[in-house]
Amino acid sequence: MERETPRIASYEADPATVARVLLLYSGGLDTSVMLRWIQERYEAEVVALTIDLGQPDEDWDVVVGKARDLGAVDAIVVDAREEFARDYVLPAIKANAVYGGGYPLFTALGRPLIAKLAVERARETGCDTIAHGCTGKGNDQVRIEATVATLAPELRVIAPVREWRMGREEEVAYAREHGIPVKGGTEAPPYSIDDNLWGRSSEGGAIEDLSEAPRDDVFRLVTRPEEAPDEPELVRVGFERGCPVSLDGERLELVELLERAGDAGRRHGVGIVDHIEDRIVGLKVRDLYEVPAAAILLTAHRELEHLVSTIHQNNFKRGLEERWAYLCYAGLWHEPLRADLDAYMDSANEHVTGEVTIKLYKGSATPVARSSPFALYDRSLAGFGESGGEFSQAASPGFIELFTLQSRMAHRVRNREEER
Ligand code: ARG
Repeated sequence: MERETPRIASYEADPATVARVLLLYSGGLDTSVMLRWIQERYEAEVVALTIDLGQPDEDWDVVVGKARDLGAVDAIVVDAREEFARDYVLPAIKANAVYGGGYPLFTALGRPLIAKLAVERARETGCDTIAHGCTGKGNDQVRIEATVATLAPELRVIAPVREWRMGREEEVAYAREHGIPVKGGTEAPPYSIDDNLWGRSSEGGAIEDLSEAPRDDVFRLVTRPEEAPDEPELVRVGFERGCPVSLDGERLELVELLERAGDAGRRHGVGIVDHIEDRIVGLKVRDLYEVPAAAILLTAHRELEHLVSTIHQNNFKRGLEERWAYLCYAGLWHEPLRADLDAYMDSANEHVTGEVTIKLYKGSATPVARSSPFALYDRSLAGFGESGGEFSQAASPGFIELFTLQSRMAHRVRNREEER
């Protein structure tokens, strides 16, 4: 347990010089054990920082009380929901950001903000080191340490879970010895959970058996589609310049809008994703996601964007969306390419104003109606009825002849060569 691990990166803390640590504290077993362990192992003071990103069912007073009981010299909770929604989730909506075809990046979006707030509070409270509870196998260590090392080269990092090599039993024993309350007794929780207002993930335990369908006990946020109401529900989402601004005509602040969209999706079993994921550190893992708000809002946003953008904009943007999602996933939030891409996303969203109605029904969220002052749609042109005006059907054969010229020529030339 006390074994030294060699320090490799320049930002890793030297135990001899650590005096005051800012610990990213969730109130769970790992970070609670950490709070005591850092005081013991490093003979350092600990400031506990907890960030509210809209995790449901958390009592922050209890978390703060627990941190103080465990010896934190200070325990701070920051309500970062608004900043998270505005500066992290909104750019992701504009970029239709989904990693690996299914993951709307809620954890990946939260980490750079958590790390940024940790840097700010560490500086304010005179800490020399930031501690977090990530393991050495995940993406979150990359996201947090990349951000800290970028924003605050003077700060050092410790990741106790990576170095202490305690198993679950040893951790529980350590907790017992040190009077740390263990929520839910000593039973190992069945899954590792992370959540915020943009979604919830479950990993580990029975989920690791790829041949098994998800067990019912995984889903704590979203109703099982089988049990969702038999009547569908329609939600009308209003957008201005790519930003969701209303639900069913009622204007809402972004945080509330995300929460309400999430509630509607939860009721109807919307947003369950069973995902095999390529982690940055090379592993493939399986994640089970519950993303009701993202399932509704990304679907609505994509639909509206499709309606107001040209074929060229629509085709081009998809490739950039994937790049954006990858940078976010990989923890490269401060990579300048992301700002470049955001400039494009903002520009592409300039006319994404209007409304999309989404039908929620037993696990599905489908667009069923849309309208926009900027729709590139003319019913009289698109219809099967009359011809004339700006669109002359008589012009189509000429178009087809020129449009297919190279393809036809290539076919001819290459077939001729094969004959030789
Ligand atoms: N696989 C997702 C990601 O890498 C979710 C990770 C959840 N994090 C966690 N500590 N349980 O972003």
